[in-house]
Amino acid sequence: MTDRLIVAPSVLSADFCDLGGALRLIEQAQADWVHIDVMDGHFVPNITMGVPLVASARRCTELTLDAHLMVSNPLRQIPWFLDAGADVVTFHAEAVSADEAHRAAALIHEAGAKAGISVKPKTDLSVLQGIIEEVELVLVMSVEPGFSGQSFMPGSPDRIRQVRAMAASAGARPLIQVDGGIGLETVGLVAEAGVDCVVCGNAFFKAEDPLSVPGALRAAAGREA
Ligand code: DX5
Ligand code: ZN
Repeated sequence: MTDRLIVAPSVLSADFCDLGGALRLIEQAQADWVHIDVMDGHFVPNITMGVPLVASARRCTELTLDAHLMVSNPLRQIPWFLDAGADVVTFHAEAVSADEAHRAAALIHEAGAKAGISVKPKTDLSVLQGIIEEVELVLVMSVEPGFSGQSFMPGSPDRIRQVRAMAASAGARPLIQVDGGIGLETVGLVAEAGVDCVVCGNAFFKAEDPLSVPGALRAAAGREA
């Protein structure tokens, strides 16, 4: 578990009229990663953003670009996001076979990026067996993927603990990331469960004072180191 909580604001909650301003806000707020929610309208009902946004963001910031691919055919699209400059590329376990998961991780590693695998709230965590030792990040969804501004699902901390235990017994040390409904009132729950990174959409971009949010989240989590 990282000492300092990694904070990854999601640009899905930003005003797309001013993406550059949103990225500058994330930097000025001392957040760590830019979370980019890619939705294909098939794996999830919503359609949001894609490769051109990652490529533009790459030209605007040095921060880690964390691409969350909520897409049905990640093997086909992962290379496009790598070429666009994503540093972390996370695909969903529900969108790949076990073999495809290995191939997706290999594709991401060949490009020198970090591979992440994500599980939806109702997905049995056994899907992580055999791949958890091959990825640098496991994303535990704390909402049903598809939209920002949803409520945190209370069973999420237990799932984080189970993933932490699975990683330990596999001798793996992936970062554990949680995504969905994270704010001051929920960050303590997931931090206590052992999360390394939190995604925050509405809690950041809809805040009175976004600049204070990453620091406030780390303080609430007791992870300011
Ligand atoms: C949901 C996305 C999340 C979401 C987070 O499918 O993966 O990243 O945008 O937004 P909040 O923090 O508002 O739930
Ligand atoms: Zn996300």
